[in-house]
Amino acid sequence: MTTRLMIIVGSVRPGRVGLPIATWAKNRAEAHGEIEVDWVDLAELALPFMDEPNHPRMRQYTKPHTIAWSERVALADAVLLVTPEYNHSFSPALKNALDFLNTEWWRKPVGFVSYGGVSAGTRGVVALTTTTSAFGMVKVGANVEINFPQKMLVDGVFTPGEKEEALIEKELGELVELSELLKPSRLKG
Ligand SMILES: Cc1cc2nc3c(=O)[nH]c(=O)nc-3n(C[C@H](O)[C@H](O)[C@H](O)COP(=O)(O)O)c2cc1C
Repeated sequence: MTTRLMIIVGSVRPGRVGLPIATWAKNRAEAHGEIEVDWVDLAELALPFMDEPNHPRMRQYTKPHTIAWSERVALADAVLLVTPEYNHSFSPALKNALDFLNTEWWRKPVGFVSYGGVSAGTRGVVALTTTTSAFGMVKVGANVEINFPQKMLVDGVFTPGEKEEALIEKELGELVELSELLKPSRLKG
């Protein structure tokens, strides 16, 4: 059984460290053996600011970009959010992408790879979990939390230590396990 894991790169800034971090997570997910990755770079996805007239819960979407995003998210079994901390919260691009939809997120397991200064992006994750909980997503226990990630770039490649490597393995394992456990609930809707 393969878990379709959507990895979302939550930062869209030029020069973002989020891209090499998310690439590292993607490489680990692809090496896992039971995971098929759907890679979502929000900079490439380029959603406008939420522009639908109806509440997303109704799924009466009017814009091709929303319909395509809805279909793509609906196919995911689990989600890994790679998120910076911006002013003690998470990125507005990520909030916008989440807000576009509603029931498509229901009962998907969600994990976080957060990064920032001394807090390692954890305040961003705390803010983010209020949104993911509102959707009925189920959070894993092991999250990767990275302090000052720029120090872990080697020629532009994110090269973390043993702690982060161990945590991502644990997190991916949890996402796969929860994906199976939550499947009946996802199907029921
Ligand atoms: C608008 C903005 C706000 C930030 N606020 C915080 C913050 O509240 N806490 C923190 O630890 N780092 C903060 N930082 C530093 C970021 O963690 C750091 O710049 C990181 O590289 C941002 O991720 P990105 O490069 O993927 O966009 C902030 C950076 C930006 C650009």
